[in-house]
Amino acid sequence: MAIDSQTILITGAGGWLGSLLPGKLVELEPETSFKFVLADIVEPKIPSSLKGTKSECITIKADLSDDSNMQALFTTKYGKPDVIYSMHGIMSLGSEENWDLGMRVNVDSTRALLEKARHQKTKQDKPITFIFTSSVATYGGQLPDEVLPSTSCTPEGAYGTEKLICEYYVTEYTRKGFVNGISIKLPTIVPRPGPPSRATSAFVSGIVREPLAGQEAICPIGSGLEDAILQQTGVWVAKPSTTLANFVKAKQLLSNTDLSKNILPWSRSVQLPGFTVSVHDIIQALRNVKGDDAVALIKFEHDETCKRIVSSWPRAFDNSYALSLGFIVDQDGFEGAIKEYRANHM
Ligand SMILES: NC(=O)c1ccc[n+]([C@@H]2O[C@H](COP(=O)([O-])OP(=O)(O)OC[C@H]3O[C@@H](n4cnc5c(N)ncnc54)[C@H](O)[C@@H]3O)[C@@H](O)[C@H]2O)c1
Repeated sequence: MAIDSQTILITGAGGWLGSLLPGKLVELEPETSFKFVLADIVEPKIPSSLKGTKSECITIKADLSDDSNMQALFTTKYGKPDVIYSMHGIMSLGSEENWDLGMRVNVDSTRALLEKARHQKTKQDKPITFIFTSSVATYGGQLPDEVLPSTSCTPEGAYGTEKLICEYYVTEYTRKGFVNGISIKLPTIVPRPGPPSRATSAFVSGIVREPLAGQEAICPIGSGLEDAILQQTGVWVAKPSTTLANFVKAKQLLSNTDLSKNILPWSRSVQLPGFTVSVHDIIQALRNVKGDDAVALIKFEHDETCKRIVSSWPRAFDNSYALSLGFIVDQDGFEGAIKEYRANHM
């Protein structure tokens, strides 16, 4: 029997992680009766993972950069949301190429969503829980070997700047008691299924996903397998299943008054745990799982812009703060990520 009922609004629910999140919430909190409001500029599909569960779901097709569409998210038959996962957005290449669109969608609509949430309360008359998905792209410039929660964010691109502006909003709206918020800074989540995304990091998935399917992939870093740059270029990554579990942990953290006291008082931004892989490590993991023939499908076309952007990202973070808040970290490295992809998508 359900002991709890929660209305969960997910924006960007037609996207990759947004479409997987309802299933993960139901899996990890089977006792909760969820009512999902799934919103996206592209009509979201009702996740098949909800079939046969007691959870309910409605979908809303809405361009959230148009303020007039916001109201509908808060006036569904399920009432006001208890929790908002703010996940819609224009990814890194997209927001660099169309700066105005990136600002409108990534910044202005997030502020508008926060404003709407500010003037509502949950059924228990509490501020709405607001979970914003941010990114390691908020970092840049000169970084220490291991980034700490105290390391300044100095982004070097539109996407990172937009995410950082929203992190400040979330901290400020929480300080004022308008929402109960957190920004979770995601590692690069890999491997991503489907066609390549409009993200600079898309190649990290591509050089695994395409060879697994017997197709050629372009690696924009390095001139060949022996190039030392493959060892030097590192990316901070996590598996989808672990990251989605951390989305659920973020909600649980904010609902636990004792645990949430451990969030540093001056920032509501938390870097989610991950691990560093070099491009060399990724290729080696592919070799271990699928063999030399798969690796031979990787072709090298060095792109200096991609290299510059990837090199501006931090290579490693201190996970200890996030772990102390209850978040979890992958235990099985990049091979584990490839095996999870194979199990779910092949
Ligand atoms: N996937 C990653 O590796 C990663 C890493 C760091 C941060 N993030 C963040 O996590 C969130 C989810 O990532 P994802 O990989 O699922 O992204 P995604 O690109 O698959 O999904 C984003 C969704 O936002 C929607 N959207 C875009 N403009 C919109 C608008 N005007 N109104 C309504 N919806 C709109 C898109 O249609 C898309 O479905 C994003 O905010 C992203 O920035 C992801």
